[in-house]
Amino acid sequence: MKIAPSILSANLMELGRELAMMEEAGAQWVHVDVMDGHFVPNLTFGVPLVRQLAAATALPLDVHLMVGNPLEQLPWYLEAGAYSVTVHVEACAEGELPRAIEAIHEAGAKAAAAIKPATPVGTLAPVLSMLDMVLVMSVEPGFSGQSYIPSSAVKVAHVVELAREQGASPLIEVDGGIGVETAPLVAAQGADVLVCGNAVFAAMDPAQAIAAVGASGDGARRSAMTSL
Ligand code: DX5
Ligand code: ZN
Repeated sequence: MKIAPSILSANLMELGRELAMMEEAGAQWVHVDVMDGHFVPNLTFGVPLVRQLAAATALPLDVHLMVGNPLEQLPWYLEAGAYSVTVHVEACAEGELPRAIEAIHEAGAKAAAAIKPATPVGTLAPVLSMLDMVLVMSVEPGFSGQSYIPSSAVKVAHVVELAREQGASPLIEVDGGIGVETAPLVAAQGADVLVCGNAVFAAMDPAQAIAAVGASGDGARRSAMTSL
């Protein structure tokens, strides 16, 4: 189980220290929420920050693009050093998603597609076999600190089922309201990567929170596998 702390909730005045904490705590990825104020109401980070993060840490940068024109913007983030780029299916016009995935792969990065809470898993069917990862949003994208939407675990199970039908095996990432209480719900259904904003950075001991969420997810996954 991978934990990807989302720097949206980090202390941005102390980002260097936050990165060191993530590295020492054993976080596997750094999740970077790029928001454009159009696709989602909020406005956050852009290319300069991704470039500086890439120079400052060896941790892979998991760039989550919440922008209305991903095809246009994704080359910038690939060039800036993203390890993986996630594009929302809702932001893509007909035929754009496969082109986006190809562009990400051509740059040597990992390609992921995200679905918002109201978007059916079936929208991923045409591209699932091309994807390295699927991101199931467990809150409406835009803000950290929201409550986990309970139907998200079922969506994770649907992605697992659809992938199995197609003989595909993308990683499954879940983003929004994930902490020690909710990690087991999605981990038991097959989630591989957990994005954590508030659960890590609002904790008294963020490093301990990273370990605790990882352990609760791993535990749930192990029991789900032994009960099969
Ligand atoms: C929400 C972002 C998330 C956010 C998660 O649109 O995509 O990555 O930072 O924050 P928490 O874990 O606090 O819900
Ligand atoms: Zn995110």
